[in-house]
Amino acid sequence: MATQVSNRGSAKAPASSAAAPARPKRPRIPAVLLKFVIAVSSVFLVLYLVVHMIGNLQIFWGQTSINEYAIWLRTLLQPVLGWEGFVWVVRIVLAFAVIGHIWAATLLALRAKRARPVKYAAGNKVKGNYTTRTMRWGGVIVLLFIVYHILDLTVGTLNPHGEHLAVYENVTADFAPSRWYVTIWYVIALLAIFFHLRHGLWSAVQTFGWNSNKREPILKAIATGFSGLLVLGFLIVPISVTFGWI
Ligand code: HEM
Repeated sequence: MATQVSNRGSAKAPASSAAAPARPKRPRIPAVLLKFVIAVSSVFLVLYLVVHMIGNLQIFWGQTSINEYAIWLRTLLQPVLGWEGFVWVVRIVLAFAVIGHIWAATLLALRAKRARPVKYAAGNKVKGNYTTRTMRWGGVIVLLFIVYHILDLTVGTLNPHGEHLAVYENVTADFAPSRWYVTIWYVIALLAIFFHLRHGLWSAVQTFGWNSNKREPILKAIATGFSGLLVLGFLIVPISVTFGWI
């Protein structure tokens, strides 16, 4: 057994490999294109979030208002696209945006990891910086949330009411006080969205070269304020249901 292990070890690491020169691989897809994909997908995703958040607030105007809004969305461009056609167009663009965003961000992250020269010199202590890790883990939480959320409020399989187009009933059943843990899960996911969005906005400002020492505090405040307002606009719905304000 021990012989096998040592044999495998020597087969894997021949003496010549240590001396092999590090060959920098030319990235096939230019980084600028990957950043462009991230930027375009982000614009669409942020727009979607803003519209979705404002739409959700209609629940404060009552059952008819929000349920009719859900039906109205499905009648948009109906003569051209048919019932729910517009919603399907948005869904498809959204799917492309999410996949493109993850693909480009992952490729860039892998390249940055490979390019880090101190990787082996400082052993295990070396770690991606705090923000980079927050972005990655935040991104994973957001992705898991989206899958859960669609099964919860669109498909209805994870929702205690789960009736198609009965948005008011589905939302109020979902975040009922007895299901406080669902509200907490939404709070966690929305906090992840807050940090992800805030950092994303700030990175965009830097990528486009809009920042300067003088403008930095105000631009950071705008990124924080925008992300905070968006997330609060979302959070107010589950919290209001759980506390019985709706
Ligand atoms: C916590 C607040 C939120 C509430 C109360 C909420 C509510 C809803 C409801 C009721 C639907 C179904 C709408 C319909 O069938 O007409 C829906 C769909 C959806 N939501 Fe949310 N949402 C929230 C947050 C979010 C967030 C933060 C995201 C994105 C990260 C998101 C992404 C989506 C997506 C992708 C759909 C599927 C839309 C479709 O049917 O094609 N939602 N949401």
